[in-house]
Amino acid sequence: MKAINKVSSLNKSELSKLIDLDKHYFPYPWSLDSWKTLDLNHNSLFLLKFNAEIVGFGLFYAVDGLDTAHLLKICLRPEFRGKGMANTFLFEMLKDISSHGFKEAYLEVNSLNLAAINLYNRNGFQKVHFQKNFYGAGQHALKMVSSLI
Ligand SMILES: CC(C)(COP(=O)(O)OP(=O)(O)OC[C@H]1O[C@@H](n2cnc3c(N)ncnc32)[C@H](O)[C@@H]1OP(=O)(O)O)[C@@H](O)C(=O)NCCC(=O)NCCS
Repeated sequence: MKAINKVSSLNKSELSKLIDLDKHYFPYPWSLDSWKTLDLNHNSLFLLKFNAEIVGFGLFYAVDGLDTAHLLKICLRPEFRGKGMANTFLFEMLKDISSHGFKEAYLEVNSLNLAAINLYNRNGFQKVHFQKNFYGAGQHALKMVSSLI
């Protein structure tokens, strides 16, 4: 059974699951230190679970009082992709972010990451900027924004 949980703290086992997912399946993984110092007062972290196991996560930089939330990461384990689960997951996360007063969400994505770009288009994001070599030589980024109102 599928569940989406927003979490305000992480136990040791959840943290190590996330670090593992990020390291193996996210194109730009964080250092151990960045994960260990993650401040969940200023970031919104959502876990996607299947049969109580973490199979994906989404992370927004979202500080109370700001208008804009920044989608930093969304990642699903490969065997759970291509089934529309990310679509539902992102939709539910944006609903939560919007309910906390944020008026828009933005993100950067590698211009070759078609699965992610399609996912974002489907959820109302539009390209507002092309950033050349953002991820390194020849690795360009699209900046995308979605209105939440
Ligand atoms: C990005 C990611 C979360 C998408 O998950 P997913 O389960 O494949 O997404 P969904 O099945 O919900 O599909 C989302 C949309 O992308 C499309 N899509 C999925 N895989 C695709 C692919 N390989 N190529 C092109 N389009 C694809 C789907 O058709 C769907 O579009 P539609 O609703 O218009 O039909 C997943 O690929 C992932 O975890 N990637 C690694 C981490 C990553 O790159 N994150 C984004 C960094 S900015």
